[in-house]
Amino acid sequence: MAFTVAIDGPAASGKGTVAKRVAAHYGLGHLDTGLLYRAVGRRMLDGEDPVAAAEALKPEDLDREGLRTAQVGEAASRVGAIGAVRAALLDFQRAFARRSGGAVLDGRDIGTVICPEAEAKLFVTASAEVRAERRFRELVAAGIDTRLEAVLADIRARDERDTARSDAPLRAADDAVTIDTTRLDIEAAVAAAIAAVEAAR
Ligand code: C5P
Repeated sequence: MAFTVAIDGPAASGKGTVAKRVAAHYGLGHLDTGLLYRAVGRRMLDGEDPVAAAEALKPEDLDREGLRTAQVGEAASRVGAIGAVRAALLDFQRAFARRSGGAVLDGRDIGTVICPEAEAKLFVTASAEVRAERRFRELVAAGIDTRLEAVLADIRARDERDTARSDAPLRAADDAVTIDTTRLDIEAAVAAAIAAVEAAR
């Protein structure tokens, strides 16, 4: 039987790491759905029409280099507000969720729109200040010269756009378990996530 774990939350909340670790723990496939929007955002920056790019998206596009940059994240957030882009990416995500053996998907609307029937739903969040500090440290460690205030402004702008859009806005599903990682390290967040999945099994 397919067992689907839906993990949603804002940028830099830790949801990606939690999703990866939960998938490894249960031996399930993992899809970072942000990569779909990033791949489409990348193509828009290259001058393509985002709807046509979403309709033509292939799995190998998700392995393209350079999808993790802040510029592509910003473009992803803009194409994510286009209903026709979201519609074009729906089938791929639902097919992945129904893989035999089960799957973990992380994003913004997995528990609410993509997999409302998921057996386990988590909403991973943290204060904007703590998320900005984490992202800032990652960028500095990667040798990127930036300022904390700029990273915080970027996180707030992305939260605002993802929460305010009319199509599949970022929000916790009514039946999601919320994990606030503001004061949790990654080990504690993963432990809380696995406990929530166990309770749903
Ligand atoms: O999670 P990540 O930072 O890679 O997502 C980039 C952007 O893609 C988000 O800010 C959001 O606008 C969009 N996105 C989305 N729905 C998803 C995953 C990502 O709208 N399921």
